Amino acid sequence: MKILKFRDKKEAIEKASTIIIDLIKKNPKAVLGLATGGTMVPLYKKIAKEYKKQNLDFSKLKTFNLDEYAGIKDPLTNRNSYHYYMDKNIFSKVNIQKRNINFPSASEPDYDKQIKRVGGLDLCLLGIGRNGHIAFNEPGSSFKSITRKVKLTDNTIKANSRFFRSTKQVPREAYTMGISTILKSKKIILLAFGNKKAKAIKKVVKEKVSKRVPASILHKHNNTTLILDSRAASLI
Ligand code: PGA
Repeated sequence: MKILKFRDKKEAIEKASTIIIDLIKKNPKAVLGLATGGTMVPLYKKIAKEYKKQNLDFSKLKTFNLDEYAGIKDPLTNRNSYHYYMDKNIFSKVNIQKRNINFPSASEPDYDKQIKRVGGLDLCLLGIGRNGHIAFNEPGSSFKSITRKVKLTDNTIKANSRFFRSTKQVPREAYTMGISTILKSKKIILLAFGNKKAKAIKKVVKEKVSKRVPASILHKHNNTTLILDSRAASLI
């Protein structure tokens, strides 16, 4: 596991966007696993900016989002869906083709097979929960898990309630790529910023691989980079 520490979030975002853009330039048909959450907002903003500036072409990219809430009616127009988030933050700003965009859902039971059919993920972008989750693979998730429907923990519901009017409105279930789905990606980058992520990063970096900290399994992946600001890296 490679660990890159940056003075601040801006520098970390610069690095992450360079890695992603270089990969897309080298392989315009790349298959990307994409995360949502607050962490990724400035990254997508930067990528959209570079897309325009460098006149990039995203038309052949294929994307598979890591997760989506379950039971959200009409995810395309529902402001709380991850599909809506992706459209708003990145998809609407670049020439990605709608047919190349994928989200896990009840109507996509073979998500892992679909990913395999297009050659597997070339890059998987990850955030990390304060409890060490990756995508919605909460503590205790099997390292062999594939894309499936999961129950969210109270911690995650509470953390995500900041995007909703009240905690009550946060869906209790979601579809998520599994840990084995993520680990099959040829390259993984995990981004973490701020003090609130410092303890989780410490557990990942300093402690043994354990199901209690799902992100710790990334030690077993041969091409993972953690991109951290000084706050998230303050305990390592
Ligand atoms: P955040 O979420 O980017 O909103 O902090 C990350 C996560 O829970 O995986």
